[in-house]
Amino acid sequence: MIKQFFSFGTIAENLERRFYFMDIENKVYSTTAEPVRFKKGKLRIIHITDTHYDFDNVDASVRLLEEACKREKPDLAIVTGDNVDNFDECTDTKKLIDKLMSVFDEQCIPVAITFGNHDSERGAMSREELMAHYNTHKSSISVDDGDELSGCGTYNIPVLSSDSEKVKFNIWVFDSNDYDEEGRYGCVLPDQVEWYKKRSDELAQANGGEKVYSLAFQHMIVADVYDALKKSKVRVPFSYKHMYNKKEFYYFDPKGTNFGTLTETPCSGYHNYGQFEAMVEKGDVLAIFSGHDHTNGFGVRHKGIDISNTVSTRYNRDRFSSQYGYRIIDVDEKDTSVYTSRVMHWYNMFSAEDVKMLEKSGDAFGAELAKNVRCNGFKQKLFQSFLLALGRLSSLRKISYPD
Ligand SMILES: [Fe+2]
Repeated sequence: MIKQFFSFGTIAENLERRFYFMDIENKVYSTTAEPVRFKKGKLRIIHITDTHYDFDNVDASVRLLEEACKREKPDLAIVTGDNVDNFDECTDTKKLIDKLMSVFDEQCIPVAITFGNHDSERGAMSREELMAHYNTHKSSISVDDGDELSGCGTYNIPVLSSDSEKVKFNIWVFDSNDYDEEGRYGCVLPDQVEWYKKRSDELAQANGGEKVYSLAFQHMIVADVYDALKKSKVRVPFSYKHMYNKKEFYYFDPKGTNFGTLTETPCSGYHNYGQFEAMVEKGDVLAIFSGHDHTNGFGVRHKGIDISNTVSTRYNRDRFSSQYGYRIIDVDEKDTSVYTSRVMHWYNMFSAEDVKMLEKSGDAFGAELAKNVRCNGFKQKLFQSFLLALGRLSSLRKISYPD
């Protein structure tokens, strides 16, 4: 049983405890991860999701993730579920977790983990056991929320100011669970919503009554995304069916504030227990980032909050996974009421010069991978450009926006 440290203490207690001790089955693990803070006034987050590591894709995927982290130099990584295959043999699952975590351990990047619908769908390890193994890694700052909350991996990460004097920003991490009783996709449950409201108030109270601006991360997109899109009763070009109501079609509202490209139906949970509305009420969340829909790299602004999705971060060497990648989010300490964000696709990672350099250095695996990404990426970009042009022409509306 993993003891709970974080959810209900004071901020000072939490900061002291959470980054240094993980008491798992009476063993104490120390982590060298430092509390997260702005560095020279800046905070950079890499959002990684749906890595779906298996033994076929893990080496290539890890290699690309290593390269991404080296280039982007994030201060914090957040991994939002469907992380690794869960096998009947725990040792196999642990090997994949170790490979994922090696990237952050080696580059000293604090990493916050939560889960998706697939993490504990099959295999021998429960969410709690998976979390315990993630937390054996020195870079993990993830929290098992214990028995008080549904799921495993709902917590918040206070971000300190550059001078460490105060909590300047905050990150919410939610386990959006797996499936409901009918086998439909899960969502954040009522007890987790109540926890968020209470914790939000505590943070504000400790901040002299001022809300602490924040970003939220979870696997499943909130169902409110459909309220932010334009609804049609008939199929129009480049619209997508509602996940649970096949008679409704959705696309970017030309009058709305949109980001990126919507390429598939947003697969939200079936139920909606008011997580998004609670965030609107508290007014502290700038954006909520999800994964789950592998090709969707988009955002829509709704009631002052950006509802966003990030593409899958795995690489399979097929044509389509060149379009996958990750998201970078930047926050400036001078004004934490805003952020900037961009989706990076694998196919934009390597230049021809990079491939030559890798070949010259005798890195055959890296060179082959980079070539593969570039080659498949070229086909993917052509295909994507064709689709976007076709979409624009056939729908007579804008179907892609800047990130
Ligand atoms: Fe998923």
